[in-house]
Amino acid sequence: MPATVVVGTQWGDEGKGKLTDLLAERAQVVVRYQGGHNAGHTIVVAGESFALQLIPSGVLYPSVVPVIGNGVVVDPQVLLAELGALEDRGVDCSRLRVSGSAHLIMPYHQELDALAERRLGRNKLGTTKRGIGPAYADKASRIGLRVQDLLDPKIFRQKLELVLKEKNQVLAKVYNRLPLSADEISERYLRQYAPRLAPLVADTVAIVHDALDAGQEVLLEGAQATFLDLDHGTYPFVTSSNPVAGGACTGAGVGPRHITRVIGVAKAYLTRVGSGPFPTELTGALGDELVERGHEYGTNTGRRRRTGWFDAVMARQAVRLNSLTEIALTKLDVLDERESIRVCVAYEHDGVRYEHLPYHQSVLHQATPLYEELPGWQADTTGASSLADLPPPARAYVERLASLAGVPIHLVGVGPGREQFVRLGG
Ligand code: GDP
Ligand code: IMO
Ligand code: MG
Repeated sequence: MPATVVVGTQWGDEGKGKLTDLLAERAQVVVRYQGGHNAGHTIVVAGESFALQLIPSGVLYPSVVPVIGNGVVVDPQVLLAELGALEDRGVDCSRLRVSGSAHLIMPYHQELDALAERRLGRNKLGTTKRGIGPAYADKASRIGLRVQDLLDPKIFRQKLELVLKEKNQVLAKVYNRLPLSADEISERYLRQYAPRLAPLVADTVAIVHDALDAGQEVLLEGAQATFLDLDHGTYPFVTSSNPVAGGACTGAGVGPRHITRVIGVAKAYLTRVGSGPFPTELTGALGDELVERGHEYGTNTGRRRRTGWFDAVMARQAVRLNSLTEIALTKLDVLDERESIRVCVAYEHDGVRYEHLPYHQSVLHQATPLYEELPGWQADTTGASSLADLPPPARAYVERLASLAGVPIHLVGVGPGREQFVRLGG
């Protein structure tokens, strides 16, 4: 059976968790393929809200094996807390499997993330301060500790002592901070976390391929989004992994031939949390209205999200970068009360019109969005469950976005609840 990728097409928080949960009903394996607990994926079932950070969004279905893939960076303390909280709410997490090749977030990663942000001052990236960037940096530098190292105390200790020598020098000499103790870290990681994580550690590549070989449905759940991608996003205002669909291959251990469906999740408008360019950003009352109606505050960090109009230039780029087969549009209901809605169809800079994303970021920073204005519908869509339930201007809006992006829109979200969506095909 082929695999399906769920990928964010904007700057995150598009509703990947809700869509993954929706699709997971028919899946056997759901894999998170990158990122860490910088993610916050919300699922609302029967009025009950679940905010997941590391555990894949298929976990609510007893038939699904949730997998944390090798491409993820894992803070064991956060993972165990998330597991405990879900179990306390009656969600059985015993099927969860964690790749032994996933890298560990260590205490120095988190500390260095926060210190680097402070050092950057007003040039800060606005990271989640969860240690994500420093953990991926150590992975690339080949000094990272992996989940499988938890199972071998001697190796863990050797690697830790080696790396801690350098980290403590940086902490002391660059940041004037106290050194971290190898004993204290080993005690926590090897005595507290390792025994609880050990039963979950597995060869997740084998799990995924056994499922594919058996004709089962595999879902690959992205975190963050296309424009936070380390290679393709608005660098340096990006995360340190590859959320794009290609990242699903490396982060889960599958070749591209297995992936036949790539669903890009897009909000019917746009948000961003943290620093970086945002051509269609709305400040003032309109921006506030979207924040309030869309409850645009970070799932885990509580930070207020920046808001703006839908950007079809970015959507077209997301189609290219991910080979999207379709878009799932979310939060249409947030626009319910608007008299009119704007969509950015192209940019202009120095007399040049850009239909596609300018490769040079200085152009993006200075580009003027060119808008098309569409009529609003001023009607409640939150109860819609079929195309016929959507007011004609809402249908026209969705169709226009699909036509501007160049791929069909098969699902439209009209509320946070699991059942609040309209299926348009696919
Ligand atoms: P993710 O990181 O992509 O999984 O998205 P988040 O969970 O961080 O943010 C999306 C927010 O929008 C969550 O609070 C969801 O419950 C909510 N949401 C998802 N789809 C819809 C929708 O169609 N309408 C509304 N009003 N809220 C939605
Ligand atoms: P989900 O999966 C929105 C943003 C941060 C910051 C930048 C780098 O819920 O969509 P990092 O801590 O990753 O080094 O921060 O990326 N960011 C997100 N924004 N949704 C997310 O995840 C994000 N994960 C990271 O705000 O701008
Ligand atoms: Mg989120």
